Amino acid sequence: MPAQPASARPPLFTWEFAADPYPAYAWLREHEPVHRTTLPSGVEAWLVTRYADARQALADGRLSKNPAHHSEQAHRTGRVGIPGERQADLMTHLLNIDPPDHTRLRRLVSKAFTPRRVAAFEPRVQQLTDRLIDGFAARGSADLIHEFAFPLPIYAICDLLGVPAEDQDDFRDWAGMMIRHGGGQRGGVGRAVKRMRAYLAELIHRKRADLGDDLISGLIRASDHGEHLTENEAAAMAFILLFAGFETTVNLIGNGVYALLRNPGQRALLQESIGRGESALLETGIEELLRYDGPVELATWRFATSPLTIGGVEIPVGDPVLVVLAAADRDPARFADENTLDLARADNPHLGFGHGIHYCIGAPLARLEGRAALTTLLSRLPDLRLAADPEELRWRGGLIMRGLRELPVEFTPEA
Ligand code: HEM
Repeated sequence: MPAQPASARPPLFTWEFAADPYPAYAWLREHEPVHRTTLPSGVEAWLVTRYADARQALADGRLSKNPAHHSEQAHRTGRVGIPGERQADLMTHLLNIDPPDHTRLRRLVSKAFTPRRVAAFEPRVQQLTDRLIDGFAARGSADLIHEFAFPLPIYAICDLLGVPAEDQDDFRDWAGMMIRHGGGQRGGVGRAVKRMRAYLAELIHRKRADLGDDLISGLIRASDHGEHLTENEAAAMAFILLFAGFETTVNLIGNGVYALLRNPGQRALLQESIGRGESALLETGIEELLRYDGPVELATWRFATSPLTIGGVEIPVGDPVLVVLAAADRDPARFADENTLDLARADNPHLGFGHGIHYCIGAPLARLEGRAALTTLLSRLPDLRLAADPEELRWRGGLIMRGLRELPVEFTPEA
């Protein structure tokens, strides 16, 4: 068979691509930075891979978040959207709506989900982190995804929202179903979303009668010029906070720890700096881990509502546009030594949390969880090491998220 020309595009959406999409993204950035592709689901979409185009597209008001703007045909077949799309009332959430509704809902949630509320939550996150590590520290080995990265964010968000402790394991199970079948919309995911919806409706109803200090009570209380969230809006908001804040944070911890284990020099620097009680490298380091191998590979769906050009390419009305954050964040036109993990990187305006009006509202919480997870793991288990061949680790093949299925590690058991 003739050798492939050096410039052939590496295949997209294969197993190898899931394990390391960066060579394919480098090719696209260089040769076809705005690329029309057929997704594994059969839907056609544009992939935007250069940093400058990505940043511009994320802030372009002509790109709607409302799936109703997807060109008719694909929309009719119902292949677009996140799991459980047909649970219509839950799906009227921040990531599926445009101004002015988006502006109103985002203002209301910002009144409840404040930086102060997140900062006050720090001791609780630390407690959860320690409790989870207690579960395996004496054993000398663990799967950091299942035993640590997965439960931490789900318990943290449940606590923050005010889901009673006795119900949190149900959430853990529903979230597990959603993550296992991520990207699909049938079967287990549909059931999980349905149960979560019924549960949230009931919880909001109960909280309304007995408001507390939790975020759901805050959402019910929040008002703006006399406007409140309806019960449906509050349920959709609680759902998107869970949904958007869960697998993302699992992947921040999973991809982050993995990147550190694969870059021993950087890991040693971080460990020393944590040992000296310093926080500067940890803070720039979290941002660098978000850039280098961020949890969100592609920003969520956008649809052209009027003809527009991105990077000189004309996008027809109704076409879906997927901004590839993972490609933009390794664009050598913006980031020096783009493929190098440099925890001290100072000039780092990465797009890992998005950009524009849909910029991640949970970023302060995600950073807090990331800091607690990395500091505690590296200080309590200082000789933490990978217990598997990196070539054999499996990555989840979902479209939007990028993360490991498992992360086996070994360490000297804690006395
Ligand atoms: C939006 C990333 C954690 C809640 C976004 C977007 C990104 C993102 C890229 C924008 C998507 C787009 O424009 O299409 C991340 C990452 C996280 C994280 C990398 C963890 C490391 C969280 C957490 C929460 C959260 C912990 C809440 C508890 C949200 C919400 C939105 C959002 C509600 C929609 C905001 C809007 O549309 O106005 N996130 N996120 N995220 N995120 Fe996060």
